[in-house]
Formats: sequence, structure tokens, C-alpha cells
Amino acid sequence: MKMGLLWKLLVLQSFIGCLAESTTPLRPVFVKQPGSIVFPMHSTETRREVTFSCEAQGYPPPSYRWRLNDSFIAPRLGSRYSFSGGNLQISHLNKEEDVGIYQCLASNSLGTILSREASLHIAYLDNFKTQKRSPVRVRDGQGVVLLCGPPAHMGDLTFSWIFNAYPTFVKQDTRRFVSQKTGNLYIAKVEPSDVGNYTCVVTNTVTKSSVQGPPTPLVLRSDGIMGEYEPKIEVQFPEVISVAKGQTVKLECFALGNPAPSISWKRVEGVPFPRKVDVNKASGVLEIPYFQPEDAGVYECVAENARGKNAVKGKLAYYAPPQLTEKPQDLQRPIDESVVWECKASAKPKPSYRWLKNGEPLEPMENKLQVVNGALTISSLTLMDAGMYQCVAENRHGRVFTNAELRVIGKTGFFLP
Ligand SMILES: *[C@@H]1O[C@H](CO)[C@@H](O)[C@H](O)[C@H]1NC(C)=O
Ligand SMILES: *[C@@H]1O[C@H](CO)[C@@H](O)[C@H](O)[C@H]1NC(C)=O
Repeated sequence: MKMGLLWKLLVLQSFIGCLAESTTPLRPVFVKQPGSIVFPMHSTETRREVTFSCEAQGYPPPSYRWRLNDSFIAPRLGSRYSFSGGNLQISHLNKEEDVGIYQCLASNSLGTILSREASLHIAYLDNFKTQKRSPVRVRDGQGVVLLCGPPAHMGDLTFSWIFNAYPTFVKQDTRRFVSQKTGNLYIAKVEPSDVGNYTCVVTNTVTKSSVQGPPTPLVLRSDGIMGEYEPKIEVQFPEVISVAKGQTVKLECFALGNPAPSISWKRVEGVPFPRKVDVNKASGVLEIPYFQPEDAGVYECVAENARGKNAVKGKLAYYAPPQLTEKPQDLQRPIDESVVWECKASAKPKPSYRWLKNGEPLEPMENKLQVVNGALTISSLTLMDAGMYQCVAENRHGRVFTNAELRVIGKTGFFLP
């Protein structure tokens, strides 16, 4: 430890005077925990490094270890990992070895605590592999789908299509639609002016890089024109979509047909749309900002033209990662007594609970240790039970950690370290 810090601690403790002995141990408490990182990998990038931060207070000053996907990272000379204080720095990042879940552990003589989980992702966008695409032949009045087939990537993508040559892009209207989920281009009803070459442009929103696919020529067949026909929905949203609290959800819906179908949106059973949704502006895309529990339900998209109509439905389900509502507090108990620690979190779906002691999972033991609805009971305390305890509340959308210390004291009231 640094002399300066020790000095300050001693000065502080002499201030506290008779309240605390200068050797009173203090449990480790996180003051900084690692956060998730998405690292944008550019082909030209030379400094490929990230730092996860971690800092804990306590006395004696905590020491640190790190885990990647539940295995400890061994500090080795000349490795790509370097440790400074509680921080972990990784250099020469590569997606095969470094992508995963990181956690920091801080320990002193009173026990060990485990930090929240931080993920590392590496965002990238490869080039298209196919060199050439064969022409797509359609009749005048027919509907068509041009596939984008984006290359391997990590990170959100956006899509657009070049018509013939840059900078002429396909303009979206009631007849033409570009799906931001698949990148495909839909033309409800082809007109002679649509003939030409179409190139999909893929942009990674994290790395900001773009790549172009091979052009697809669209040609008109000369064996007659297509008559009018009823709408057929080609772009639709999944039957069930889980949406987190506060997220913005976008539902896509687009139909082929002649005449070009119009798209409208409904909520089933007559439930009105939330006021924040502009249904009139939503043609092929319905956007619901800041999703709340009352926005959950069944949504319907209807495509209509003079020949008929086609509808699809999908359910938006609300979910929320766990948030703590009741945290265990530090406790001091005499030998032979018992402790009950409550731990509660709100979440949808309902959270499950487990407990850690000094960073390791606690297994229930008959007549000694039980976890019921999140509450931990330890009976017949011994000095061995002292340490740092953490409640973990989780559902499939997230996980939260709390921590608290258990001190076990002799019956006479003396503190036994
Ligand atoms: C960590 O786990 C994730 C998910 O299982 C996996 O994709 C990743 O490759 C793992 N990372 C390492 C370094 O093993
Ligand atoms: C489409 O691309 C091909 C090959 O590059 C070219 O021969 C053709 O003239 C292009 N068509 C149009 C309408 O630009």
C-alpha cells in the first residue's frame, strides 16, 4: 500500500480517537465498478486496448482479482493484461479471446466481494463476400424483394440502397420500403422506371463504417404485365417481442400488391394507442418510444388495396431487469445465534435469488443455511460464518448484486477477528 494513504488513514483514525482502534478492519466496499464496453474495431485501428475500472475501499486496503466468463485471469508477465490498482487493462484486443463477461473481486481480511458484471463486445463489419448477383426479372406491376444479405458483423446496422450510381438512393414511399431489420428492399409494384442496378449499403452504427454489396440488376420481363392483385404482407414483426422498460420499439410492416397497398395500424380489442405514438405518420414502421407496462399488448398491421386486405398481429411483452427494493444490511451477531437477511427486487418476469459468500456460491445446508424467497437464514453461527455476503437477484434480462458483512462475536461481547 502507498504510505500516503496509510498515513491519512491513521490520521483519520486518531481523529475518531477512542471510537475506533487504529487497527479496526473495515469491510471492502466498491466505489467504482466496471461498466460494459463496446469496442469499435476499425481495420485501421492500431491502439486496440480497453480498461475496466474497479476500486474498493476498506481496511486493510483491498486486493483485486478479475474473472472472465467465471475463470480467473492469471497475472502473467508479458501477457496482454495489465493491472493497476483495481483496474484491468487489455491490449491488442481480439474478438476470439477477449469478448465475454468481466467481474472484479475485491478482498481483504474481512472477506471478498464480487462486482457487477461488465460485458466486452467488439463491434466490427466485414466486407460482402459475393462478387456478383444475377439479375432479378419481374413483370410490370409485379412485387419484388431484393435481398441485402449483410456480411458478418457485431453492432447495430442501418441499411440503404443505391439506385444505379451513388449518390442516388432509393426513396422510400408507399411503393418502396427498406427493412432496417434485414436490409432487404421491397417494391410493392414494379414500374418501368424501376429498371436499373440496386446496391445495398450497410452501415455499422458503432464503428461508423459502411460497406457496399454487389449490385443486383432489376430487369422487366417482356412476357406481359401483371394485373391487379390483393396485398400480401412480406415484412412483418415477430409474433412475440419482449421490450424492456424505457426502450424504443419499432415494428415493421410492408406488403406487396397492385395497386400499392396502404398500411394502417390497430391495437386489438379497441385499446387506444399511447399518445406518444404518431399513428398517422407510421406507414411501414410503427414506433413506440419509452415503452411502459401499459404499452404491452397485441398490435395489428393491416395492408389494403382495391383488391382486398391482409393483416398480421404480434404481441409486445413488457420486461424489466431486476431492481433492488430491499437490501441486506451489515450485521453483528453473537456465536450460536442466527441471522435472517432479506433481499428483494422488482423485476418482470419475477426474479430468482441466490447468495454468495466471499464471491463463492452458497449451498443450502439442512438446519444451518436456507434461502427462501430470497431471504437467507443462517443458524447456529460460528466464527467460520463471518465474511462478506452478497445477494444476487436475476431474471433472463439482468442481474444485480448487493453486499453486506456478517461479523460473529464471542458471547462475552469481545470482537474476535
Ligand atoms: C465467454 O462466453 C461467451 C458466451 O458464452 C462466449 O461467446 C465467449 O466466446 C466467451 N469468451 C471467452 C474468452 O471464452
Ligand atoms: C447496370 O450495371 C451493368 C454492369 O455494370 C451495366 O452494364 C448496366 O448498364 C447498368 N444498368 C443501368 C441501368 O445503369
